[in-house]
Amino acid sequence: MEKKHLFAGSILSADLLDLGQDIQNALDAKIDIIHFDVMDYHFVQNLTFGPGLLKAIRKRFPEAILDVHLMVTPITEQIITDYAKAGASMISFHPEATPHADRYLTLIRDLGCKAGLVLNPATPPELLRYLWERLDFVLVMTVNPGFGGQKLIPATLQKVADIRQMATEAGHGDLLLEVDGGVAVSTVKACADAGADIFVVGSAFFAQDNYESALAQLHGALQG
Ligand code: DX5
Ligand code: ZN
Repeated sequence: MEKKHLFAGSILSADLLDLGQDIQNALDAKIDIIHFDVMDYHFVQNLTFGPGLLKAIRKRFPEAILDVHLMVTPITEQIITDYAKAGASMISFHPEATPHADRYLTLIRDLGCKAGLVLNPATPPELLRYLWERLDFVLVMTVNPGFGGQKLIPATLQKVADIRQMATEAGHGDLLLEVDGGVAVSTVKACADAGADIFVVGSAFFAQDNYESALAQLHGALQG
């Protein structure tokens, strides 16, 4: 993954009854990444997709970058292995969901995927200081996880900037920072200015009528 500004379309806002065609349309519009939100009714108050669906997506789209965001608790070796084998390119989980973040980040890489940790709005970034060597990316929640269509919480952008500074000072300037929640034409520039590289877009992309123009507007806002 080259470092530049990348957009990850969250299928939470896609047409679930015509998902294959919707993902095809998103890729045709040149979305960079497909973001796959896994929710278990325990870590968050919502229930979404499992490894069977991921496997079907991988089969139809062998070249796509599939970004699996695990909002499940507890994290186990089986869960990570299931999503890696189903075809994930990137897997991230929340540190609150396991006492073994180091072990599971290592496992994700051993299974051939990019490894990431996800920080909720109120989760401090300090534990990252001990994990740089294990991390390909950090996903900063810019809303409280569970649902699409929420408003970005401005205080989370300071955390993005803090992590960018911490990583650079630790010699890990190549760490990718991803933001998730409330990213839209009106907020994407502030996310980029804080240091984000990858932008998850659910309602600002999959809920729009025209994916090409939605993406063009997002890219345009980054220039502005
Ligand atoms: C929320 C999910 C997000 C969600 C973002 O818990 O992790 O990926 O789809 O949706 P928007 O972009 O609508 O805030
Ligand atoms: Zn997500």
